[in-house]
Amino acid sequence: MVLVLGIESSCDETAAALVDGDRRILAQAIASQEAEHAPYGGVVPEIAARAHAERLVPLVEKVLNEAKVGLDELDAIAATAGPGLIGGVMVGLVTAKALAMAGDKPLLAINHLEGHALSPRLADASLQYPYALLLVSGGHCQVLRVAGVGQYQRLATTIDDALGEAFDKSAKVLGLGYPGGPAVERLAATGNPRAVPLPRPLVGSGEPHFSFAGLKSAVLRAVDSGQHRPEDIAASFQQAAIDCVLDRTRIALATMEPVTALVVAGGVAANKAVRAALEGLAADHGLPFIAPPMALCTDNAAMIAWAGIEKLAAGHAADPLDVSARPRWPL
Ligand code: KG4
Ligand code: ZN
Repeated sequence: MVLVLGIESSCDETAAALVDGDRRILAQAIASQEAEHAPYGGVVPEIAARAHAERLVPLVEKVLNEAKVGLDELDAIAATAGPGLIGGVMVGLVTAKALAMAGDKPLLAINHLEGHALSPRLADASLQYPYALLLVSGGHCQVLRVAGVGQYQRLATTIDDALGEAFDKSAKVLGLGYPGGPAVERLAATGNPRAVPLPRPLVGSGEPHFSFAGLKSAVLRAVDSGQHRPEDIAASFQQAAIDCVLDRTRIALATMEPVTALVVAGGVAANKAVRAALEGLAADHGLPFIAPPMALCTDNAAMIAWAGIEKLAAGHAADPLDVSARPRWPL
């Protein structure tokens, strides 16, 4: 049975996980840096890199011990090599290189987005290629057609902010703190989604792209006007964001070759209103809707290990030990 160690350090979660070819997560550990970044209202790259450097090796040790697995028993070491905050990515990748060298094991440099894109297959063995993936996180907002390992067709991306970023920035102007997505969702539940007129950028356009900058600015103006209750602003923002996501995903699906399912991944997939809306969209298209468990939607190392397993199964060779960390790396 193939066994891969995964390492993730591209943003503010330090994570390690051991996954086998039977989709079993033998052990995983994740250290969130939420507390370190909260005072600044967002992720501070330098603080993130230092925290990864302190925590990663003990986390790797912890998962190996927990699963009683020795370095010699691994088939490969997979680490996020980008895209992401470069200091953090370098910590993870260099750690993986050192482990690969010490254990004489293949190194697999994984694209973080590929980790998200393939993670639904770790959660659900029945999910077959090709599927449509809406990836909505703090850093990304894309619709992909995932046809196999290395076969990713990007049909839509954001021309400015990511969806999670729009949630976080709206939370900030509403004084809800960081990370803002869950706080906006909680406040929105008590407000009127039609109370505040807000724009739906790009809705109705034939090009399947996303834009949230105009919505974010309108939220700021609504807050500054002092004319609306915060819960109504939160609810109206969330509704406008969902209307954008539905319209844009519908256009992307219309331009896409057939798929087996509509899948959502990334931190914003935690939002119940977003999930419910997407479930309806999938039903309209006669597609099953798949949302992996939250622990696999947000940044984690199991998805990086799984991407490594999928790459090995597809016959990909190991990456050289001088492979570079990449701050930008489109799929
Ligand atoms: O995937 P993730 O953990 O990290 C990135 O790769 O960015 O996503 C984090 C993002 C943040 O912007 C956070 O505010 C958002 O996901 N998020 C949510 C919710 N939970 C997390 N947004 C809306 N509603 C939520 N319940
Ligand atoms: Zn991510």
